[in-house]
Amino acid sequence: GAASTVRRFALGIQAGETQLKEGTPTRTWGINGTYLAPTIRARRGETVEIAVHNGLDRETSLHWHGMHLPAAMDGGPHQPVAAGETWTPRWTVDQRAATLWYHPHVHGATADHTYRGLTGLFIVDDPSGDDPAGGPAGDNEASATLNLPSTYGVDDVPMIVQDRAFDGDNQFTERIPLAGSLGVIGDEILVNGTLGPYFDVTTRLVRLRLLNGSNARLYNFGFSDDRSFALIGTDGGLLAEPWETNRLYLSPGERAEVVVAFEPGETVDLRSYPSPDYGGASGRLDGFADRLDVCRFRAGDDLADDTELPAALGDAPDLGDAVVAAERSFVLASDQINGRSMAMDRIDFGVREGTVEVWEVTNDNGYIHNFHVHDVQFQVLTVDGTTPPPHLRGWKDTVLLVPGSRYRLAMRFSDHTDPNAPYMYHCHLLQHEDDGMMGQFVVL
Ligand code: C2O
Ligand code: CU
Ligand code: CU
Repeated sequence: GAASTVRRFALGIQAGETQLKEGTPTRTWGINGTYLAPTIRARRGETVEIAVHNGLDRETSLHWHGMHLPAAMDGGPHQPVAAGETWTPRWTVDQRAATLWYHPHVHGATADHTYRGLTGLFIVDDPSGDDPAGGPAGDNEASATLNLPSTYGVDDVPMIVQDRAFDGDNQFTERIPLAGSLGVIGDEILVNGTLGPYFDVTTRLVRLRLLNGSNARLYNFGFSDDRSFALIGTDGGLLAEPWETNRLYLSPGERAEVVVAFEPGETVDLRSYPSPDYGGASGRLDGFADRLDVCRFRAGDDLADDTELPAALGDAPDLGDAVVAAERSFVLASDQINGRSMAMDRIDFGVREGTVEVWEVTNDNGYIHNFHVHDVQFQVLTVDGTTPPPHLRGWKDTVLLVPGSRYRLAMRFSDHTDPNAPYMYHCHLLQHEDDGMMGQFVVL
């Protein structure tokens, strides 16, 4: 059966050059290539074994963002891979179908390593009844049952959205003074490593798996004609029902699955619109641009029309009435959490396996931050004391906190106890993380 299937992957991290712009190639890092990384795909119930070879001249790591897995396989700062070495984590995938991702998480250098190009998607599929022997992963059972668009690259399209700043010689600029503690906000947008990207639409409905893979930039996605689209999934999988909107914020590390309808022959652009100004140098994490073009969609004259957007999708998160074993509070301010900076040898607390906890996270700062927790997907119980908006009603592992905001998050810790290997929680603005806005917990 599927439980005994082992799916093996080999990832080779390397430095190289990539022709991102006309003229001089850009010095980049990549996995199995010189820039970005392959999409990994596996089904719930399968065991994955991933040989990560570090072909760089320095240590790095790979972290499986959003994955429920043993802490020793998490790829965080405690699992560095030395130059020339291979690290082979192995775990059994046990969570809902979702769009996850992977990136380096080495202590103090996550921002630079990710920025140079080490970013890939990790798509978790539901187990397929059609394929008990575990052939190539592909269609998602829930999607098939629901008849959602699910043909990879055709009507189910990964979109790793990232900003980069280039110098006059086409090289990445890793710090821009204007960005201050954010490290870098670039003014050029790449999708899947491509500048000025376009997508040729061949179906009426297209599902986009959007990842904000930027170090610091906030996106406020919308289309050039203000058309609405349906949000169908968040970080941890499908929503209970689609939510129609014409704008969607994603902060660094967050994912969204949306379904957009196209008309034959039309051209429309996905953009990022200005975000509100929260004040200060980093008050607008959209990088002070009035508008950024993200990707052009060019629809053919004949669009296949054999998928649909159903009224009901998945199960809503259900932790609202759970017995709460512990409540904790986290105050984000001045590159610290609860007044402390990350220290590799300090475990901040232990949680009990099998219990539900409620974490209250407050942004007590004049800057935008976000908050990410390893190992779990959480339910947003309240935002500033009220019911969360529709886009926060699904499973999440990362949430945006504008200045002054307060979130209550409920999460269940299951399996994978290990007193010696901690999981991280941190701000996912990567320079903030590297500057110490991170803490550690163990599951006992
Ligand atoms: Cu996307 Cu701790 O990471
Ligand atoms: Cu993570
Ligand atoms: Cu931050």
